Amino acid sequence: MSDDPLKIGIAGLGTVGAATLGFLVNENARIAARAGRALRVDAIVARDRAKDRGVDTSGLRWFDDPVALAADPGIDLYVELMGGADGVAKASVEAALAAGKPVVTANKALLAHHGGALAELAERTPGASLHYEAAVAGGIPAVKALREGMAGNGITRVSGILNGTCNYILTEMEETGAAFDGVLLEAQKLGYAEADPTADVGGFDAAHKLAIMAAIAFGRQMAFDDVQIEGIENVAAEDIIAARDMGYRIRLLGVAERTDEGVSQRLRPCMTPIDSPLGKITGVTNAVMLEGDAIGATILTGPGAGGGPTASAVLADIIDVARGNCPPTFGIATNDLVPVTSSGAPLRDEGAFYLRVTLKDQPGTLAEVATALGRSGVSIHRMRQHDHKNDIAPVTIVTHRCDLADITAAKERIETLSVCTAPPVSMRIVES
Ligand SMILES: NC(=O)c1ccc[n+]([C@@H]2O[C@H](COP(=O)([O-])OP(=O)(O)OC[C@H]3O[C@@H](n4cnc5c(N)ncnc54)[C@H](OP(=O)(O)O)[C@@H]3O)[C@@H](O)[C@H]2O)c1
Repeated sequence: MSDDPLKIGIAGLGTVGAATLGFLVNENARIAARAGRALRVDAIVARDRAKDRGVDTSGLRWFDDPVALAADPGIDLYVELMGGADGVAKASVEAALAAGKPVVTANKALLAHHGGALAELAERTPGASLHYEAAVAGGIPAVKALREGMAGNGITRVSGILNGTCNYILTEMEETGAAFDGVLLEAQKLGYAEADPTADVGGFDAAHKLAIMAAIAFGRQMAFDDVQIEGIENVAAEDIIAARDMGYRIRLLGVAERTDEGVSQRLRPCMTPIDSPLGKITGVTNAVMLEGDAIGATILTGPGAGGGPTASAVLADIIDVARGNCPPTFGIATNDLVPVTSSGAPLRDEGAFYLRVTLKDQPGTLAEVATALGRSGVSIHRMRQHDHKNDIAPVTIVTHRCDLADITAAKERIETLSVCTAPPVSMRIVES
């Protein structure tokens, strides 16, 4: 083992940073043996110097400015664990890369928004490299699985449950029958959801991870703006019940796949069979399913967040840097990444769909809905009218295979019917 220590600077000592520091201090000999090189945390930065981090930080150099730490000649590796797509996280990562240092980060927002430019900077600066295992599904080694383990495959599809908060809320809604708002409030009290839950329940956090995986999987430039995002805020208790009655669960699924028209990236609530690999995932657990021409399919499940699990991924990257294992950021030289060009036209999205319409309970209403569906090119596989209340009858429909554009047209037609009392709701049914 080399005695020349890798001198590490850590920016951010919150949930992930403090856990990472704790392992590097308390388990140093074991981790260094794996790295084949002595590892020494040399300097740290956070906002509040007085805060107890649960680890002895007295021997470490303290910085007030992350950018100064990143560029400091005394450190060999900059570990960014502050968060945020812009601001000091971006500025400090750029400073470290520009100074020819490897960077390890858990920051999915930074990668999804600026990953392309940062990868180019890393590539053209001798000594620099960018590592981000923790940015995708926390402790699950999804980046390494895709970029290294499946490097020989033509990847056809990457999908997963990429946000534990949303999966917890959907699981609780299913188990308790409670509505979204009440379950979210409970999740906030238990610390499973942030005070501002938008990034999680709005689907943005999971979309960041999906965009990163899609860039690696399909060897193309980062295209976060191409991800079609729909969160779980509008999932109603009656949709959860209808799903269960039909043998499905509602899950917030990220799916990136290669189609004849290009790569599609969609993040939205879907119905998936209860006994399917992704349908079985409950609570805060994350899952990533990777499909390739050689391997078929493989699935990784585990904790997608939390100090320990996320530190596990950060440590793996630190060990890679110590070993000198620095692959291209997205697995391919940036010049060879496929440029993202969009015609603006939405890609086809074919499959079965669930549709819930709310109708006046009067004769002939179902015929009007069936006509609207038929005119839109949508045929009915099964239909169920639920108990009516106050002369309003909810009807749930499962369609035969059709395109999302047809469903959208059908919903617009149905909404204009005088018998329709609320905007129709639809959801894609995914069979795997
Ligand atoms: N938490 C998870 O489970 C998880 C999972 C996967 C990925 N991540 C990613 O990991 C990163 C860190 O997340 P976290 O949950 O550990 O965040 P956190 O608990 O909020 O910690 C953020 C840390 O950054 C420091 N910080 C923030 N702004 C700063 C500034 N301007 N200058 C210096 N220090 C600053 C804070 O200092 P103070 O402590 O002094 O306020 C704090 O120590 C994020 O990119 C996040 O997306 C987190």
